Amino acid sequence: MTIASHTVAPAALPTAARTFPPGFLWGTATAAYQIEGAAAEDGRTPSIWDTFARTPGKVRNGDTGDVATDHYHRWREDVALMADLGVGAYRFSLSWPRIQPTGRGPAVQKGLDFYRRLTDELLAKGIRPVATLYHWDLPQELEDAGGWPERATTDRFAEYAALAVEALGDRVHTWTTLNEPWCSAFLGHASGVHAPGRTDPVAALRAAHHLNLAHGKAVQALRAGLPDEADVSITLNLHHVRARTDSPQDADAARRIDALANRVFTGPLLSGAYPADLLTDTARLTDWSFVRDGDTATIRQRLDFLGVNYYTPTLVSAADGTAADHSFDGHGASGHSPWPGADDVVFHRPPGSTTAMGWAVDPSGLHDLLLRLKAEVPDLPLMITENGVACDDYVDPSGTVHDPDRIAYLHGHLAAVHRAIEAGVDVRGYFLWSLLDNFEWGYGYSKRFGAVYVDYPTGRRIPKASARWYAEVARANALPE
Ligand code: NOJ
Repeated sequence: MTIASHTVAPAALPTAARTFPPGFLWGTATAAYQIEGAAAEDGRTPSIWDTFARTPGKVRNGDTGDVATDHYHRWREDVALMADLGVGAYRFSLSWPRIQPTGRGPAVQKGLDFYRRLTDELLAKGIRPVATLYHWDLPQELEDAGGWPERATTDRFAEYAALAVEALGDRVHTWTTLNEPWCSAFLGHASGVHAPGRTDPVAALRAAHHLNLAHGKAVQALRAGLPDEADVSITLNLHHVRARTDSPQDADAARRIDALANRVFTGPLLSGAYPADLLTDTARLTDWSFVRDGDTATIRQRLDFLGVNYYTPTLVSAADGTAADHSFDGHGASGHSPWPGADDVVFHRPPGSTTAMGWAVDPSGLHDLLLRLKAEVPDLPLMITENGVACDDYVDPSGTVHDPDRIAYLHGHLAAVHRAIEAGVDVRGYFLWSLLDNFEWGYGYSKRFGAVYVDYPTGRRIPKASARWYAEVARANALPE
């Protein structure tokens, strides 16, 4: 990609080195299915992503997570890479089907042992483990029983949370329940570009509610097994939604997408209710009777911080005669909309440069999102749990990977975070997505987000130029000019 001058224009940046607050947490992030491999080892059974990846036409090149980066065997080397980067934290996810293969009953000791070894090694190197319970790998048996659209899955999740915290709560004191439930609900059940690949808008809304409820129950299970000082959170991919013009019609399109992307989660999680406009907008699809008395109270649990994942803004307008195009709204098009009841909203490619994913580069979206959160939930600390970029990286003849576009992207977005902190937003840390190149869901291994290049045929790791740049930022706790 090329970075348009307006995104990182020197004139827009202060000249002094920008120092972050003392104790600001610098980390990298991954997820189990994207890196572990060892899909059938030590008792692990298929998750919905194993099934989806095996379904012809669902994942580019027919790629699967069977081997991935082979992190299940190379974890010690990967922790050493992080220690070389000098990062203070590592965000990873626990594989539910590795710990509890059928999604019910007792835990598998070997599955737990893997995460005990990993977290022991992290702690030995002074790296804080940040564990996510669910990064999209529902045990297939629970999908066969109805999956997230079924209420019973919320109880299974709470039981799994209890097993995980019982085994790891002595050493992991920073927990996240769900990663990006919007993707699980809407890409998984409405557009179908993610597992389990359903295309039923009502199932997507039911899934969203049950993910919220599962979060609430899991927070209770986690807190019961953790010391008071431990941190419990959820990570959302909040969309920074802009209207293409200031016409009332376009403003209304932006409001509707904001409800379906953001407030369907932040409403119950942070305010204890689903937004009235969301219920009205979707009334012709469902009466929301799957929300039972007491659910929203269960969902609204105290959070120690909110995880924010940000990559690109969203630009919408009201229907204007052109066909709705969902290829700009995140994760690929399937012919089915991920937006229940909003099929007529038109998505536009935002101006400026784009990444290898086709996503627009716009750090101001992150800044504005952080300021909005500060205005809406002033006392809730925030953590950037993912930010990063896919580039067309390659190893040059000298054996190195030069990725100036990634450095420019990270620089621009970290400057935006810094500006938000200066404006009073309580951002506690930043996790670069991702430590390693990995399985990018429907795109398979064709997209590289890593600070460390992975040569898939050999598994060899090669830190990119951006890894050295990021290590220096973390060491200095400051952005260079
Ligand atoms: C968000 C997801 O959490 C992660 O799994 C994915 O690889 C990145 N975005 C990039 O698309």
